[in-house]
Parts: sequence; structure tokens; C-alpha cells
Amino acid sequence: MTDQHHAVEVIMTKRDGGELHDEQIDWVIDAYTRGVVADEQMSALAMAILLNGMSRREVARWTTAMLESGDRLNFSALSRPTADKHSTGGVGDKITLPLAPLVAACGVAVPQLSGRGLGHTGGTLDKLESIPGWRASLTTAEMLDQLQEVGAVICAAGEGLAPADKKLYALRDVTGTVESIPLIASSIMSKKIAEGTGSLVLDVKVGSGAFMKDLDRARELAETMVALGYDEGVRTVALLTDMGTPLGRTAGNALEVRESVEVLAGGGPDDVVELTLALAREMLACAGREDVDPADRLADGSAMDVWRRMICAQGGDPDADLPVARHTEVVPAPATGVVTRLDALAVGTAAWRLGAGRPRQGEPVHHGAGVEIHARPGERVREGEPLLTLHADEPKRFDRARSALDGGIEVSPAEPGGTGGGGSASSDPGYRRPPLILDRITA
Ligand code: URA
Repeated sequence: MTDQHHAVEVIMTKRDGGELHDEQIDWVIDAYTRGVVADEQMSALAMAILLNGMSRREVARWTTAMLESGDRLNFSALSRPTADKHSTGGVGDKITLPLAPLVAACGVAVPQLSGRGLGHTGGTLDKLESIPGWRASLTTAEMLDQLQEVGAVICAAGEGLAPADKKLYALRDVTGTVESIPLIASSIMSKKIAEGTGSLVLDVKVGSGAFMKDLDRARELAETMVALGYDEGVRTVALLTDMGTPLGRTAGNALEVRESVEVLAGGGPDDVVELTLALAREMLACAGREDVDPADRLADGSAMDVWRRMICAQGGDPDADLPVARHTEVVPAPATGVVTRLDALAVGTAAWRLGAGRPRQGEPVHHGAGVEIHARPGERVREGEPLLTLHADEPKRFDRARSALDGGIEVSPAEPGGTGGGGSASSDPGYRRPPLILDRITA
């Protein structure tokens, strides 16, 4: 059979709801990576997978084939265990920034290969690149040295890790085939397993600002990824966490770095601190270090010390001024009462339109741009007081950012008995905030 007949047979098998054999999966991933299977054939196959799904065996084999399309790093020579965290992406999700140095300060090395943002969710590398001098690209030898010396590395994934996924993810992005559980799970896990971590904690986001809008689909994604981790010998746990509203009080690169440094200094918003500590505890438990309490390492400044060393090791200046946008515009509270809704997708899209995100892969971001949140759900506001501040380098961006917020903000009358409005960002006792951590999935 020729390669082209083989490709068409694989597509038709999935189109008709059949299961692919292991050899077919190995062949199609390898042939696509080598350019023998064309983009249009892979798009058709990805769409058939999105519509008809994959069995557990197929997803596991697909993941292994993508993993084997490139290199696999090995950190077994390090003197401490390794653990990493992956978030499926959300608005204001700066957790990696305080988390990596915190876990390193507790004695577990964190090798974190991150990406740049696309669409309304931010990318960790974009955030760190707002620190003057900081560089994202490291060689494997530099990464190993930094892990040994400092204990934490956040850097760009090299070209050699899961190249099949790089090609396939870019294709899925332009063919409407991102939202498939087997394709998302295999994409994330092939990269994370290739990165060589001993344990992995997944933060699977649920809600308007996440890929997974509802809890059942998020749970299915988490269960699939946890099982894939165990199949490949990586201890894996997942938390399902709320992404109906942004995390913390900022969305945008330099704004989020500033907030992360506040957390490392012992302050910062409650939800960012809560999630950072919860994920740190999971990472430490997976790595066999439940004896250490990460809250102590935040309080005693040792996580901040690791942060400073981690930034310096990659050429950054932790004391340098961060970029500030040239213009700001205030969004006032529409009424007096309690903020009952601040939609994550609306805020993420506004930040993106302000310049914090990139419209197309490869384009630059504006590091100072984004949204600052003065009142979060559950907090009281008075009509006309600042609810948000928009930051942008170009004033023409404000109108489109404001229109992204239409329908995304609700302020309801305060409960009788509250002090009624006033006092910026005081919490209303009558408002029940949804839990941040919704579920925990283990193998
Ligand atoms: N992130 C990834 O790395 N891959 C996906 O498919 C979706 C999110």
C-alpha cells in the first residue's frame, strides 16, 4: 500500500467510528512529523477524532508516539526529586511564577518548560519576558545547572521536545480542532512527559475563561491525563479549579509579575495565595516531601530568595522597574452593591485586545498592557467608583476592550445588614463565593 492509501485508510477508519491499531497510530504520527502525511490529511483526521473520540488505548498510544517523535530529558542525576505543574490555561493565571520558586525552596526541583500565550489566556514566558534582561531560551546543560544550583527553571521548550505536537497543535489551532479531550490530553502529556519530570500536578481550569466550560468535561480531561502520566511512570495528580472569574486582581504580563512578587513577599490576593499553596502541597506530596509546609517558606522569605536567584540566573534584574503602559482608562462600577459577576472570558478578551496577548503566533505582546481589578466578586462597590483600570500603550485599543466587557460585569444590591456600598473592595457577608478548588483527581 502506498503512503497516500495508508493515510486515507487511517482517516476513513476514524471517520467511520472505528479504532486505530497501534501500528497505524505510530505510522501516522511519524509520517506527519516527516511531512509524508500532509496538513490537509492530518486536519481531516483531527476532525474525525474530535467528532468520534478515541479509546483509552488509542490515546495512550497516540501520546507515546508524539513523545517518541523527539527527545526526552532526564533529570535523574539531580540530587533532589523533581516535580512540575501544568495549567490548562486561564485568565490572570500567574501561579507558576510564585509556585516554582516556592517548591524549590521546599527542596524539590522544578523543571518547567512553558509556552507563550495565544488568544485570551496568557503565557508564562510572556509574563517573565516583561522583566528587563530575562531570557527564555536555555540549553539543556544550562537548564540542568540551574536546577542543581537554584532548584527552579522556567524556560522555553526546545525544538526537540515532542515535535509532532508542535506541528499538530499549530494545525489544530487553525482548523477548529483544539477542543477534543484525547487531542488536548495527548498534546499536554507528551510535552510534560518529554520534559523529564518525576511528578506532575495538573491544574485543570473549569469555567468561562477555560477550554473546559463544564465540570464533567474537565473531570474527563483530568482523568485522561492522570492515567496517561501513570502509564509513562510519572506520578500525576490533578486539581479542578474555578476559572469563571480571573485569578487575583491583574490580567496582563508585567501587572501579573508585580502581583506574583507581592505573593512571594507574603501578601497578594487570597485566591492566588490559596491556589499557590494547594498546588505546592500536591507537588511536594508527589515528590515525597509532605514533611515541609510551603506556607512557612513563603513566610520566611526563602521562596523570594529562590525567585531572585532564578531571575538573575536567566539574565533578568529582579529589582528593575517593570514596563508600564502609556495610557490608562477607568471602568466605573455601574451601580452600588456587591460585584456578583466578573467574567473571566470577558476580562481575558479585554486584556488581549489591550495588547497583553498576541493576535497571531509569533507577534509581540505589549508587556505593560492589561486589566487591573479593583473589586472582585463578593466585594462591595459604590456607583461610579473604579471597578477596573485598563492599561494600554495605544488609546485606540480602549473601545474594543470595553466592548469585550459588555455583559461580563454584574453588580447586585448589597444584602440588608451590610454597610451598603462604600469602602472600596470590602467583602459582603451575604455573598457566597464559589469554591476555588472544585475537585481532586488521582489515579
Ligand atoms: N495546551 C496544549 O499544550 N495543548 C492543547 O491541545 C491544549 C492546550
